[in-house]
Amino acid sequence: VRALFPQPGGDGCDLDDADLVRIYDYPRGRPWVRANFVSTVDGAAQGPDHRSGSISGTADRRMLALLRALADVVLVGAETARVERYGPADIRPEYAQIRADLGLPPTPPIALVTASLDVPERLLSDSRTLVITSEMSPPDRRAYLADRVDVAVVGDREVTAHGVIDALTSRGYGRIHCEGGPRLFGLLVHAGLIDELCLTVSPQLLAGPGLRILAGPQLPEPMPLRLATVLESDDFLFLRWLVRNS
Ligand SMILES: NC(=O)c1ccc[n+]([C@@H]2O[C@H](COP(=O)([O-])OP(=O)(O)OC[C@H]3O[C@@H](n4cnc5c(N)ncnc54)[C@H](OP(=O)(O)O)[C@@H]3O)[C@@H](O)[C@H]2O)c1
Repeated sequence: VRALFPQPGGDGCDLDDADLVRIYDYPRGRPWVRANFVSTVDGAAQGPDHRSGSISGTADRRMLALLRALADVVLVGAETARVERYGPADIRPEYAQIRADLGLPPTPPIALVTASLDVPERLLSDSRTLVITSEMSPPDRRAYLADRVDVAVVGDREVTAHGVIDALTSRGYGRIHCEGGPRLFGLLVHAGLIDELCLTVSPQLLAGPGLRILAGPQLPEPMPLRLATVLESDDFLFLRWLVRNS
């Protein structure tokens, strides 16, 4: 991985894992919501198979693994969990020490937002899985899930963005790594609850109907972002933006 901006050691400075941990270290003393996506150069967030793996690559997978290693929790929308066949997060052996040094348990739990409670069965094998839903979700299914995993009921009707973040922070999860998808990201962006966007630009053109990284109604005003880091590896760009008021 090379740093293109800023360039701490000069032009195209090579970075090792310790440098990356420093760059992506979460701010202390307050909860922080980091969103992470990959998109093709022309803006597709889904490959031809409607999944993101087909637009990812070795360098992007490595970055995703590192970002997961730094987090208290991985937050995801239920559709992404279903399409991408989520199970409990595993951490690459080479990143185990990073988590230990941060005082984190070996793996982060997965938190998912759902109205339907259609939760991938594999996620139920970790009792720390957090299902965030509302009073409107099917009560029988909710009771079934509550016997197996952690269920947070936030809101009478809709799950609100603030309800999602409160459910996480009240459990001590302040380093929040949100892996989308576009609709959950839209919910959080509209509520002003995103602090940082890490976007991998995959060196591909695709066109077609694929989703962009952000879905939902247009924002009343464009949300300004401040560029914090530009990294490059194997023609993938790793862009890190901070939301201006964060
Ligand atoms: N390129 C990337 O980096 C990337 C990252 C993530 C995902 N993706 C792709 O994006 C696609 C899925 O994204 P998506 O935007 O359709 O879905 P999503 O945001 O992952 O999940 C949407 C689902 O989350 C639940 N949800 C969201 N807001 C809610 C609310 N306010 N209250 C209750 N439940 C709520 C609902 O689950 P229920 O349906 O269970 O009620 C809803 O159907 C997949 O194809 C995936 O591969 C790409």
